[in-house]
This record gives sequence, structure tokens and C-alpha cells, in this order.
Amino acid sequence: PAPPCTLVIFGAAGDLTKRLLMPSLYNLAGSGLLDPGFTILGVDHNDGSDEGLRTELTTSMETLSKDPGSEFHADRIDPKSWGFIRERIHFLKGDFEDAGTFEALKGKVSGNVVFYLAVAPRFFGSLVDGLGRAGLLKQADDAFRRVVIEKPFGSDLASARALNAQILKQADESQFYRIDHFLGKETVQSIMALRFANGMLEPVWRREYVDSIQITAGETVGVEERGGFYEPTGALRDMVPNHMFQLLCMVAMEPPNSFSAEDVRGEKAKLAQAVKPIRPDHAVRGQYVAGALEGKPVVGYREEPHVAKDSNTETYVALKLEIDNWRWAGVPFYVRTGKRMTGRRTEIAILFKPAPFQLFADTPVAELSPNVMRITIDPDHGAGTELNVKVPGPQMQIGRVTMGFKYADFFKNQPNVGYETLLYDCMTGDATLFQRADNIEAGWAAVEPLLEAWKTAPVEDYAAGTPGPKAADDLLARDGRHWLGLD
Ligand code: BG6
Repeated sequence: PAPPCTLVIFGAAGDLTKRLLMPSLYNLAGSGLLDPGFTILGVDHNDGSDEGLRTELTTSMETLSKDPGSEFHADRIDPKSWGFIRERIHFLKGDFEDAGTFEALKGKVSGNVVFYLAVAPRFFGSLVDGLGRAGLLKQADDAFRRVVIEKPFGSDLASARALNAQILKQADESQFYRIDHFLGKETVQSIMALRFANGMLEPVWRREYVDSIQITAGETVGVEERGGFYEPTGALRDMVPNHMFQLLCMVAMEPPNSFSAEDVRGEKAKLAQAVKPIRPDHAVRGQYVAGALEGKPVVGYREEPHVAKDSNTETYVALKLEIDNWRWAGVPFYVRTGKRMTGRRTEIAILFKPAPFQLFADTPVAELSPNVMRITIDPDHGAGTELNVKVPGPQMQIGRVTMGFKYADFFKNQPNVGYETLLYDCMTGDATLFQRADNIEAGWAAVEPLLEAWKTAPVEDYAAGTPGPKAADDLLARDGRHWLGLD
């Protein structure tokens, strides 16, 4: 198990605590990965009590387990695992900006502490200041002090830099765990094993053999109730410098010298820094209008709650990235993400250069389709490579097959709502799957030209339930390429 520690959650009654932290802690308890000395201290500005918070979180766990759409869907909650968590929950009332809260905290915690900032981003800096000024971030040989910070980390390069500078005045970089939940996804982590544990893949993973790479995070959900957050944010800030860049780094970074946090994060930062600032003519921004999904009509973005009727916020982005390094020079990386797209699919596709055609000049195919390796992250977890083979029969004909696997066919899935590994790693002090300051800043630096240009650029329409705006197809067509299908 992880060493004994206190998990202080700021925003104890919030959505993140209920939807992700509690189910993940419950799963960790079920796997025997929490020490009997583990405790939780929830801090929130509303009135409350230990028993009140325990009851509230028990109710939300039950509701979540009955929701078939939730990752936590289960027939029953195991009383032993939940009991372990429930009896360790305590409550402290406190305003996040009041020095008194931190003084009160001092009397409540000792030894190892993880401070989890499950709060709105505007509180990140002041909470770290409060913790630092109260001496709560001072470590000892037998007492670590760590801070987990949620996304979004800044809203552009200047604000990300300012926030990094602010928090690093209070504690050392090694004490900060900046979360990107994509790194908690099993399939994202396994990209490193796929690439570096297989001698046959790494030699072809480079410009000599790869034509282009497509990274897609397509969602069918709309903006839901999050209009208030999404309006000033948009798809670019919400997804690209963070989640999409994490996928990019995993698939394109150089082999690290070891799996130590510093080696892996060093390679990721180097890759992110090699991404050329994105040219506005290499970028498309779209917004969904009314359409249909699974046969049901859905409203357009501007009709969603808390969204302006004339909103110019993008719900879709398509980009062409160029990486200025030895391995990838000249290989375009096409990145797209959007809400209300045709299909839910998060994947990385590596498109290889075609074989010479001459040998098959007389076979009934116009051209040989290139090999494509697709690493699927959601909703399936697996990988497959599309190959050209002979169609059985007396004539030489070329057909297309997929050679692939799903993780579930080989391994028993661990119960996982997405934060188990991240929480466990933070308690054990492994920062590999967290973002270092330089990595975050490199992501923002790459998208900076777009943030500027898009202040006035209009959005392109796409009907809900379609793959995206036409301009995104044109972006690839200009290079003689096309997007892979989402189904
Ligand atoms: C979040 C974004 O960080 O990631 C959401 O704020 C997005 O807008 C979500 O829907 C996507 O994550 P996942 O795990 O559902 O692919």
C-alpha cells in the first residue's frame, strides 16, 4: 500500500470529489492499496460536519453506481471497501482565501499530506499561497507535503507562467502534481510499452517510414451544463495544450533513458518544445449547429444553457502541427477534437508510407492503401494495424484486413474510473504521469498564435452528428490527405 497520509481535499462537496475522487479511493481501498493510517480531510466553505460529509458522499456513491452511463456503474457497493473510506472522512469548514482556514488546518494535519485542489482554477494560486505562508508545505524526512492541481492550468502562456512562478515561490517543483486525466488512462500509459518494448516497432517510428500521424478525440456529448466554463474556454484551451499534447508526446517523444519521472518528463518537454508555433492557416475552428445523433435531434451550441446566442466559442478544432526535430521533420501531425461529432473515439493513427506499387500494377486496385496503425484509447482499448493481403481465389487481388487486439481479450480489467493510478502515484511520490511546469508552458507556447488570431476569427459551422466542418477536410485535402473515419 501507499504510505500513510492525509488527503486534504479543497472542494470536498464538489463534483470532482463525488464523480472521480471518491470512486477512485474506494477502488484503491478494494485493491488493498491504502494504508490503515490513510485519512481524508474535506475542506469546503459551506457549513458541514464529519457525519454530514460522510452521508453526502455515501449518497453520491450510490447514485453514481446506479448510473449506467458512469464508469463506476456497479451492482453493489462493497460495504468493506466503502466502510474503510467512509470512516476516514472528516470535515473542516473554511473559506479558501481566509488565512484562518490554513491556521485551522495546521492543527488538524501532521506527517504526510497530499493537498488536492479540486476547486475552480481562480483559487489555485491563492490556495498554494495560503498553504505556503502557514508553513504547511514544509517537508521533513518523515513527512512529505504534495499539492495536486487540476486543469486548466492557466488560460494562455502568460497566465500559465505566472501561476507556475507563484506556486514555485511556496514549494519545490517536485512537490507539485499537475493533473491531466488523460495520463490516467490505461491505454495512454501503455503507449510507452507498445513503442519501447517491441523491437519491431521502434525502427519504423520515424520520418523515413511514417507519412503522417492523426490524433483524434471525438466526442458525441455536447457542452452539457458546462456552458459557463466552456464559453470563455473553447475546445482549443479545453483540450489541445493539455490532453492532445499528452497524446502527442507519448507517441512522438524520444525513448527516455529510464521510466523515472524526470527522464520521461524530460523527453516529453523536449518534444513539446519542438512543436512549431501553430500557424493560423494550419488551424480550423468549428461550432456545432443543430443536427441529429443516433436518430435524435440535438440543439446547436448557441441554444445550450449558459451560452450566448451569438457565441463565437469553438467546440471543434483541427490543426496541422509540425515538429522540428530529427525524427519527425516533414511529418505532419493532424490533430482534431470536438463535441457533438459523429462518433466517440479517442485514438492515435500512424499512417505509414506506401509500398512501391509496381509489383501490383496489374492487380485490380487503383493504388495500394498505406498501412495504418490505430491505437484506440476510448471507448475501446487496444490497437490494430491495417494491412493489404491477397483476397483468396485464383486471381491476384488485394484486400484490406486488420491485425489487432483489445486489452480486455488478454487481461482482466482492473476497476478504474480514471484517477486510481494518479492518486496512488501521488501518494507514493511517482510524478511520471503528472505535468511538469516546462511541459505545460510548451503546450501553451505552441497554441499561442491561435489564441491571438482567434480573438476575431469566425467559427465554421458543422451540424451536430457530423465529423466536423468542411474546412477541416480542406486542411488535409491541401496536402493530398484525408481524415480517417470515426466509426
Ligand atoms: C475534460 C474536458 O478535461 O476532458 C471536457 O474539460 C472533455 O470538455 C473531457 O469532455 C474528455 O475526457 P474523456 O476522458 O471523456 O475523453
